[in-house]
Amino acid sequence: MSVPKSEYLSSVWAPGIFANRVVFVTGGAGTICSAQTRAMVHLGADACIIGRNPEKTEKAAKDIAKVRSGARVIGIGNVDVRNFDNLKAAAERCVKELGAIDFVIAGAAGNFIAPISGLSPNAFKTVIDIDTIGTFNTVKATIPYLIESAARNPNPNPNGLTGGRIISVSATFHYSGMPLQAHVSAAKAAVDSLMASVSLEYGPYGVTANVIAPGAIEGTEGMERLASSAVDKKKMTKAVPSGRWGSRRDIADATVYLFSDAGNYVNGTTLVVDGAGWRRQGGNDIGIDEGMEYPDFLFTGQISKNLKDGRKQKSKL
Ligand code: COA
Repeated sequence: MSVPKSEYLSSVWAPGIFANRVVFVTGGAGTICSAQTRAMVHLGADACIIGRNPEKTEKAAKDIAKVRSGARVIGIGNVDVRNFDNLKAAAERCVKELGAIDFVIAGAAGNFIAPISGLSPNAFKTVIDIDTIGTFNTVKATIPYLIESAARNPNPNPNGLTGGRIISVSATFHYSGMPLQAHVSAAKAAVDSLMASVSLEYGPYGVTANVIAPGAIEGTEGMERLASSAVDKKKMTKAVPSGRWGSRRDIADATVYLFSDAGNYVNGTTLVVDGAGWRRQGGNDIGIDEGMEYPDFLFTGQISKNLKDGRKQKSKL
């Protein structure tokens, strides 16, 4: 299914700004990361997207390749970011087939709604493993190629082309703390901290490392998992100072900015793309229905039944 350009890229960017560059994306078949990849490919890049599900990943790669004639997009399935060897092999294949890795998006993530009392040690560890260890593994597997790319692409580059850049897709829950999100808040705080260390240790090699923190983004699997489908949408959007949920394009545009010549001196920071939502996130719309109020739902153990929940039956809790 072809996606209209207006859904993944605004019209301000010049064509070809990522020509002959390669972007490596974990979780690249997901709703947000596929929009980021589409935007990069539209503007000239080739791409390698990584995922656990081979059919979903390969199908997404084929679809993304359609945004630009001549684009090369590889989908590598059966890769779990928790497994470093898998990721390393995927990075090697990307370089072998596409010639380089100039940009990395560490986007693979796991989330579900659960109070601490409903999180087994393995549930907590699972999200830390996917988000935090997965981001670390992605950095480790790709940093040698990013250093090479940064050496080929001095910052600033007289020709306006860039390389040697990594972003991770984080969240804002940990800024205030969020009921039912202890696991993700801890994992994403660590991701932010890790990316700061990457900027400190690899900035001197010419690499930039930043974080994009999306707020509530419309039409994503993440929001299907976090926001009850039975909650009044108008009320939820009203809580965001900018008056709406974000779009995939908002995140893709932020990605293009950080990877482009316009983002040369942005390093070691977090770009929050959330319509100022986190400044009001003391509310408790995540994971609950109308009528469930903080802290009552914690005492009764209620959470919304109107969430996409992939929890398996074998759960010990
Ligand atoms: N509430 C509480 N615990 C849950 C849960 C839920 N809704 N869903 C899973 N868990 C627990 C499991 O019970 C298990 O713990 P246990 O062994 O002690 O019972 C643990 O988490 C691991 O679950 P499992 O299903 O084996 O892990 P997985 O590796 O197959 O899947 C998840 C990882 C759980 C993060 C799954 O939701 C996933 O694959 N998510 C990817 C997509 C995604 O989350 N996208 C949104 C990004 S914002």
